[in-house]
Amino acid sequence: MEKKEMLYEGKAKKVYKTDESELFIIEYKDDATAFNGEKKGTIVGKGVINNKMSALMFQILEEKGIPTHFVELLSDRESLVKSVKILPLEVIIRNITAGSFSKRYGVEEGIVLPFPTVEFSYKDDDLGDPLMNEYHALALELATKEQIETIKAYAFEINKIMKEFFLERNIKLVDFKLEFGVHKGEVILADEISPDTCRFWDRETNKKLDKDRFRRDLGDVEGAYQEIMKRLNI
Ligand code: TMP
Repeated sequence: MEKKEMLYEGKAKKVYKTDESELFIIEYKDDATAFNGEKKGTIVGKGVINNKMSALMFQILEEKGIPTHFVELLSDRESLVKSVKILPLEVIIRNITAGSFSKRYGVEEGIVLPFPTVEFSYKDDDLGDPLMNEYHALALELATKEQIETIKAYAFEINKIMKEFFLERNIKLVDFKLEFGVHKGEVILADEISPDTCRFWDRETNKKLDKDRFRRDLGDVEGAYQEIMKRLNI
């Protein structure tokens, strides 16, 4: 499958059309940004790791009955995926307090929540991806009620599968962000699952093994991505 016209260039990925309207090619970059693009940098090798890790996670999720956009790995940095129209909602699941949740509600990081929570942000860089509830998403016609119900059910199921998978590899799944798209009228999981989009803490030491090392200037950013790759055997 060959790359045709570039459809979209995001902060960490490029998306290309192919000969087939049902298929796109995603190319993962080493570029990293934080705080809505205010902070810019490079994480050497990140594109390869995020491509391979996303491929693995999508395959595992597919096996457990979650429909995803993933078709096949094409190279170190490229994957073939089903063409989707991304729903402009970032879906965030949290198991342990951290990040914007801790900041917004004035709670320290690291508190295990009594049950996982879900929240939505409006995927709009100009607005800084503002938090929004389901009524807002429905009123702005970003998704239908049925799509939102499907997304929530998938997101909690994905959390169960991923939490167990990472714990077996001595990693706590603190929180993560998902994006869904519509392919042939069906909602499917899209985008990526990587240390860019998840918070991973070492089970014993709570060492951060994700993009927070870049966001917060904690050092050893590449080392964290490599450690994840090692524990996932990819
Ligand atoms: P938050 O605590 O900053 O809201 O982040 C929640 C999760 O979402 C965390 O695992 C990192 C991920 N995330 C993204 O994937 N993209 C983003 O732009 C942001 C802000 C967070």
